[in-house]
Amino acid sequence: MCVREGAAVILPEPRGPLSADVVRALRADGEVRRDVEATDEEDFHLSLWLLYELHYRSFEGVDDSLEWSPPLLALRRALEEQFEAELRGACAPLVARAEQADGVPDQLAAIASFDSGTSLPLFLQREATRDQYLEFLVQRSLYHLKESDPQAWALPRLDGPAKVALAELQYDEFGGGRPERLHSRLFAEALAAAGLESSFGAYVNRVPSYTLAVNNAMSLFGLHRRLRGAAMGHLAAFEMTSSLPCRRLLQGADRLELPEAVGHYFDEHVEADAVHEHLASRGICGALVGAEPDLQSDVLFGAAACVHLDAVVAERMVDAWTHGQSTLLAEAGENVA
Ligand SMILES: [Fe+2]
Ligand SMILES: [Fe+2]
Repeated sequence: MCVREGAAVILPEPRGPLSADVVRALRADGEVRRDVEATDEEDFHLSLWLLYELHYRSFEGVDDSLEWSPPLLALRRALEEQFEAELRGACAPLVARAEQADGVPDQLAAIASFDSGTSLPLFLQREATRDQYLEFLVQRSLYHLKESDPQAWALPRLDGPAKVALAELQYDEFGGGRPERLHSRLFAEALAAAGLESSFGAYVNRVPSYTLAVNNAMSLFGLHRRLRGAAMGHLAAFEMTSSLPCRRLLQGADRLELPEAVGHYFDEHVEADAVHEHLASRGICGALVGAEPDLQSDVLFGAAACVHLDAVVAERMVDAWTHGQSTLLAEAGENVA
């Protein structure tokens, strides 16, 4: 099994005029045109994802100094304002309902227990074909190959018990002192064992906007100090909705007789995330709101954003599969069936 680490990410294919202009600007000096707008969700979220990735691994052939290019940052800001406003609108009902509970941990639990009516882990556990399960791994690769990186931006923005709890949680995610146990590495091994590409960004051209949006939300929250409450609320909801689903994903992988490394990744998260759930909800969010009460509504907003975007992903993927369609975008030049 071959796991490629640190391979350069190739700039993706544009999905419309805005992402085409961003790709062009990234290959040049960062000057974007001001008169170009995204034509649809695909064009919008790929553009935002491209701009965010400058802060992580960037792309082959792109000057590292473009991370702080004023025209690119101005465009990012405009896209973020639109995305954040949409998210806040979509999350308002969930947040209002959660606020009826007492205390941050119970409010987070109310959000985490939201049932959209479509469960992706349940589908993968019981019904998915092998190809559908592999599509799921491909879509998830965009996050899990840089697992926990977006939350790391929050560390210098926290202090005291919340900082200590986040460091403890991330120590696990980043391997607990052992490179071979980095969670991103475990996911890369799962991909490679399943015969898939294991380098970061290898599948970005196949991943639809609703999964890009999941990743963009984490970067939005992580890269803005003013959204540190949302970043930690998002993390809490992520961990609180992980342990039981990972058990289902493990059972799905076993049912389909996928290679052991696939089940191993999810097995690792059944127990780890049961611990992380408490660390994130009480240790991080409880302590953070205790220290900075004004952050409470953003903690709930971040948690609701996680649950809302996950529900969109579940609905879109299960809907496609039950109609016999692939959830992946066609590769350039490939005919869509
Ligand atoms: Fe993890
Ligand atoms: Fe975790």
